[in-house]
Order: sequence, then structure tokens, then C-alpha cells
Amino acid sequence: MVASGMRRYRQRKPEHDQLILQPNGPLEPSAIFARTAKLRLEIGFGHGRFLSQMAAAHPEEDFLGIEALPIRVTKTAHWSHKRGADNVRLICGDADRLLQQLIPEQSLHRVYILFPDPWPKQRHRRRRLVNRRFLHSLTRCVAPGGRFIFASDTHNYAMQTLSNLSTLPSGLWVNNYAADGGYRFNIPTRFPTVFEEHHKAIGNRIAYLMLTRTTMALP
Ligand SMILES: C[S@@+](CC[C@H](N)C(=O)[O-])C[C@H]1O[C@@H](n2cnc3c(N)ncnc32)[C@H](O)[C@@H]1O
Repeated sequence: MVASGMRRYRQRKPEHDQLILQPNGPLEPSAIFARTAKLRLEIGFGHGRFLSQMAAAHPEEDFLGIEALPIRVTKTAHWSHKRGADNVRLICGDADRLLQQLIPEQSLHRVYILFPDPWPKQRHRRRRLVNRRFLHSLTRCVAPGGRFIFASDTHNYAMQTLSNLSTLPSGLWVNNYAADGGYRFNIPTRFPTVFEEHHKAIGNRIAYLMLTRTTMALP
């Protein structure tokens, strides 16, 4: 069922289509944005608040977002268009395929995965998006010095992500929060996502990860 406030996003308008890519082969960011700039990717952007606010705050960089639910993609295209963000492009689809097949090697300056579907039950954990294979693809796509930022109210998911990263050859990533034991909890953020605000409002503890890609090549 679609919430009443979302119904107006069932119909896509031409100005939305301009922001939504339908790639059938590897992406060429400089052709998409008609310039060469640092590229940030948000995976599972949901209602798109973080993505469109970040893009408006950083007009000198380009922003790509991928989200599985079409209605959320249309909503984000609507708000990005309203904010006049020329530097945003959206894809409706699966992030796993995007990283494996469509994003060029070492092309991403930041990757955000904020409140991915948590699949908290033990028997459902294998459905989590951020698994070993996914992290391998992500490592290939992030440029040296680029960062991977992850947040979840499901502590176990954050732990699993760090543990999966540790199975990659050592030296590919530096953990920015190593001195804090690997994570930080409940840190203030500039543009909270819809899920982040909800979890903070009900007092849930949120785990944040930040890692920086080194210059080491992926073997
Ligand atoms: C819990 S919501 C969080 C949304 C947003 N990041 C936030 O914090 O408000 C997770 C989002 O990830 C999307 N998603 C789940 N699996 C995905 C996949 N394989 N590729 C792209 N998006 C996905 C879902 O449709 C959903 O909108």
C-alpha cells in the first residue's frame, strides 16, 4: 500500500525523467554530468532527503543515487528538481548489480549506505545487501582516498560489515574509527536521513562506520 502523502509520486513527469538514468552498460560519469568532478554515491537513498540536501550543499561535486523502490526514486527526483540540483542523477534498481557491472573502477569519492534494510532475524541475515561479495565490488569502485560511510541501528549489521571487510586482503581500507573500537555511536550528522531521525527520536542507538580506501590495488 502507498501512503497518502506518497501518491503524487506514482506519476513521473518529464522533469523527473531527466534525472533518472536507465543504464544498459557501464556508466560514464563525465558524460552523464557533462563535466569531471568528484562523484558520491548513495545506496538505498529511500526518500532521498540526505542525497538532495548533500547535492545542494556541494554543487561542485556530482551525486549518484540508487534505490530499489520506484516511488521513492520519483519522490527524490521531484525534490532534487525543486532544489535545482543539476548534479544529481538517480537509478531505480539493484545496488549489487550497479557496483558489479556499471560503476567504473576507482571512480567514487564517497559511498553512503545509511540504514540499509536490517534483516535482524538470524535466519534472514543472508538477505543483507552488504555482504562480502558486495564489499569486494565496492572496494573496486572507490578511488584511493575515497570513503565508505555506513550507519545502522542494528549493531549486529555494523559488526558484520566490519567483520566482512576484515576478510578482504589487509591494507585496502583504513578504519577512521579504529581508536573508538571500530564504530562511533549516535554522532551528530549534518543531514539526517528519514530513518536516522526516526531511530534517534525513539532513542535507538545508531552505529556509524567510516573507512578510507588506501592506494593499494585490489588483488
Ligand atoms: C531502511 S530504508 C533506508 C532509507 C534511507 N537510507 C534512510 O536512511 O532514510 C532502506 C532502503 O534501501 C532500499 N534498498 C534495499 N535493497 C536495495 C538494493 N539492493 N538496491 C537499492 N536499494 C535497496 C530500500 O528500498 C529502502 O528504501
